[in-house]
Order: sequence, then structure tokens, then C-alpha cells
Amino acid sequence: MKFFIDSANIDDIRTAVSWGVLDGVTTNPSLVAKEGKKIDDVYPVICDLVQGPVSLEAVSMTAPEMVAEGKELCKYGDNVVVKLPMTTDGLAATKELAKDGIPVNMTLCFSPLQALLAAKAGAAYISPFVGRLDDISAVGMELISQIIQIYDNYDFATEVLVASIRNPIHALEAAMMGADVATIPFSVMQQFAKHPLTDRGIEQFLEDWKKVPHA
Ligand code: E4P
Repeated sequence: MKFFIDSANIDDIRTAVSWGVLDGVTTNPSLVAKEGKKIDDVYPVICDLVQGPVSLEAVSMTAPEMVAEGKELCKYGDNVVVKLPMTTDGLAATKELAKDGIPVNMTLCFSPLQALLAAKAGAAYISPFVGRLDDISAVGMELISQIIQIYDNYDFATEVLVASIRNPIHALEAAMMGADVATIPFSVMQQFAKHPLTDRGIEQFLEDWKKVPHA
């Protein structure tokens, strides 16, 4: 499973890159707004920092405007993936951009049929939001298993990008189900590497090492 970081924070992205396990980035307007910086001080920097795909979200609402905005976003880097909302205009724009070889990540997916439509339109990625489904007492991860089954049934090339991940269990379940990608907030990513037994083991080994005679 590929790991993307769900962030527009340059320091966090840089740190995740330094760990050597980062495959890409997803951003959204809320994440960018949180940084309080100009777009031109954020998007090109992220695209340079990361080798893999960087999803940048369009905010247009009609298909022709989405296509035009998507093409503009591509100017930030060769690794840009245009993020479009899961609407009928989003589908039409996805089809158009895909024809030009521009990859699209269809976002705000909350049902398996939306995911089927995204694949048929030629989306490179579908982003089902598991945390937001959990928030309304639905089981977000059930949606992931339904989408994986549908895509397997028909051999769709669209990658399942598990989004709105709130805890390490979401990521673990995504990996167990065989999702292609998980996009993870930095704070959750930090928790993955941590285990109290690892910390205690290191402490013990360092203590014991002091007892070994050094010539
Ligand atoms: C996905 O690409 C979105 O940016 C993100 O995962 C949304 O997460 P949230 O529901 O925690 O805001």
C-alpha cells in the first residue's frame, strides 16, 4: 500500500519525505487555508519536495471550468494530480482531462456507486472518506471493501485511495483489504512507528550495553 501524506504543511511533508516511506501527497482547500500562505508559496514547493503524485484540488463547479482550472494546476509540477469533487460535472471534467492524459483524483466519495462512476469516467484515483462516514455512524471501512470488490470484478485501473483517515486502525484495515493508497495526516503517520515495547527494548539494550567491557 502506498502512503500519501494528507497535508499542505511543508515542514511536515519534508519530515515525512526524510523517513523514506512517502509515496505522494493529498491536499484540499481546508488544509491549504490552515497554512495561511499564498498558493504560489505552497503548491510549487510541495511538488518539488515530493517525487510522487501531489493532488491539488480544483474549486470550480462546472465541467468546463474544472477542466480549465485542472490544466492551470498542472503548471505547478509534472507530478500534479487534479482533485475534483464527485459530482456529475466532476465526472465530465474527469473524462475530458483523462483524454489529455491528466490524472484525476475524484474526492468526497461516500458510496460504492459513486466510485463505480469515477472509474468509468477514467479517474486515476477514487478518494472514499472513511472518517467522515464514521462520524455519521456509518462504517467507513465497509465502503472500502465494497469499492475494492467492484473494481476487482471489472478490472478497473482506478486506484482506491483511502481518505479521511483518523487513526492507525483505519490504515491497518486499508492495508489488510488491499487498498492501493492511504492518505494519512502527519499526526497519525507518527503513531505508526511508535510502540512502547520498542521504546522499552531500546532503553534496556542501551543500559545493558553499558555493562559490556569496552577495551
Ligand atoms: C482527502 O484527500 C482529504 O484531504 C482528507 O482525507 C479529508 O480528511 P478529513 O475528513 O479528516 O478532513
